[in-house]
Amino acid sequence: EDEKDLVPRPPVVCVMGHVDHGKTSLLDYIRNTHVTDREAGGITQNIGAYSVKVRDRKVTFLDTPGHEAFTAMRMRGAKSTDIAVLVVAADDGVMPQTIEAINHAKAAGIEIIVAVNKIDKPGANVDRVKQELTEYGLVAEDWGGSTIFVPVSAKTGEGIDNLLDMILLTADILELKANPNRKARGLVLEAKLDKGKGPVANVLIQKGTLHVGDYIACGSASGKVRAMMDENSRRVKTAGPSTPVEVLGLNDVPNAGEVLVATDTDKDAKNFAATFISESKSKLLEDTKSRMSLDALF
Ligand code: GTP
Ligand code: NA
Ligand code: MG
Repeated sequence: EDEKDLVPRPPVVCVMGHVDHGKTSLLDYIRNTHVTDREAGGITQNIGAYSVKVRDRKVTFLDTPGHEAFTAMRMRGAKSTDIAVLVVAADDGVMPQTIEAINHAKAAGIEIIVAVNKIDKPGANVDRVKQELTEYGLVAEDWGGSTIFVPVSAKTGEGIDNLLDMILLTADILELKANPNRKARGLVLEAKLDKGKGPVANVLIQKGTLHVGDYIACGSASGKVRAMMDENSRRVKTAGPSTPVEVLGLNDVPNAGEVLVATDTDKDAKNFAATFISESKSKLLEDTKSRMSLDALF
């Protein structure tokens, strides 16, 4: 990719942490809406992706579930992002999915900002969280380390401005860029079959710009973009780098984690999907063969 084609793009920030430590509440406060009210039992079941305007700059947030059953989603979240906001409840401290989130973020090589949440609660102890996280190599700046810790409350809003400043500051240092003037490439966060709309893919565009009418391929599925919707279900005609968008028009439901590409022609899109299918088949065959040879050994 030519350096001269690259322009600044919004940071993609993944909000991670143990179940009920307040990830969605924090995002709600930031978005000024009430997603938690609509969630079944207040449990996040999918990766919610939101583009938010922070002081005239765009930031893309991914909300991930903290429930232990959703490891793959947290991994996908970490993989598709530039910055992880690790939410730790100040009254609960480091928990199993806190540690798992740290491991995902480290494996993905992304910057971690710690948001110590629920500081409004009587049992809140920010220093204990700092102490516990030193064991995982996250040492606060005021303790001689280099990790940014921000005490916050998703209930009162205390510290959230500071958290947003730290996110923007970290994004500046990363100098994130992408070329918007090329065929789009994105990552499927979630996909489902909708009774009325057909296959729906929730895609994070990473490079280029996706347009309504573009030919697309995604895993073994292909098609043409029929319509796109932003996170507020508003129709959009284009989606550029770091934008989450709902894509309609694929002939099948892709798998989460698969790459979506725009192609020049319908034929290219179909070829891409066909190649994907034959490669998956030969991989399956290889896996079976290696399993068989292992079986022969033991
Ligand atoms: P999962 O998506 O299920 O992993 O949970 P989550 O991390 O998104 O937590 P959620 O936002 O659903 O919050 C869990 C509970 O904690 C809710 O009852 C919130 O109202 C409460 N809560 C979240 N943040 C705060 C806070 O800063 N202070 C207080 N007092 N309560 C909070
Ligand atoms: Na919850
Ligand atoms: Mg949640």
